[in-house]
Amino acid sequence: MQTTTANKIALAVLFTLTGTMALGVFANAVFAPAKMEKPGYELPGGAAPAAATAAVPAAAPAPEVSLAALLAKADPAKGQADAKACEACHTFDKGGAAKVGPPLYGVVGRPVASVAGFSYSDGLKALGGDWTYEQINKWITKPSALVQGTKMSFPGEPDAQKRADILAYLHTLSDNPVPFPSPAAAATPAPAASATPAATSAPAATATPAPAAAATPAAAAPASPQPTPSPTSTP
Ligand code: HEC
Repeated sequence: MQTTTANKIALAVLFTLTGTMALGVFANAVFAPAKMEKPGYELPGGAAPAAATAAVPAAAPAPEVSLAALLAKADPAKGQADAKACEACHTFDKGGAAKVGPPLYGVVGRPVASVAGFSYSDGLKALGGDWTYEQINKWITKPSALVQGTKMSFPGEPDAQKRADILAYLHTLSDNPVPFPSPAAAATPAPAASATPAATSAPAATATPAPAAAATPAAAAPASPQPTPSPTSTP
């Protein structure tokens, strides 16, 4: 009785193991795993390694498109539609009353936490300064990241262009609209700086073989004096 139970268990284990192995063999046969000839990725334009490395610094600044550049192509009409999310808590009307949040007409250029009678959080009161486009952009990216313990329970707008559209809409809500920051100022210096190390590294590489070539004649020179003493020793 006991042996048969043990045998049954042993058989069950054996069948499971063989079954799993067979499954693996079968799966490999069906989905013949393709081996790569060369490990790694083939980069576009991989033939010239210098070109590939030069492309990296050029591509890097792209994700951080400046706010000024985004504002330059922002659409206030789209912003008005996206700002519907804000209207749950804010009014955009001139002279509008506070709701859950303070009224936002003319908020750009207004001192932070300055609507009389609105009970701001201590965190926002401590922030200081005026609401610039940059600051509101940071704020609506994630309010709780800019001001700890804020009362604005809005998770944030992750899309940079949508934020710029909303800012363009806020721009229209003013008697004296604050001009957008100029896109030219921020954009230019970055590519110029990244181009310089690439240019300096290239001459450095070409300079290295030169001393090696210069060393070869020097090594050949001591070889020639050797035959010279031998004729003198012969006579
Ligand atoms: C869930 C409600 C809610 C939503 C949604 C919301 N806010 Fe607010 N907002 C608040 C509250 C509450 C405050 C006050 C925050 C504090 O005191 O910490 C505030 C403060 C602000 C301030 C500072 C105003 C001042 O007088 O200093 C700005 C600017 C602002 N919100 C913009 C926005 C924008 C733009 C949106 C939409 C993208 C938005 N808010 C969505 C509730 C909200």
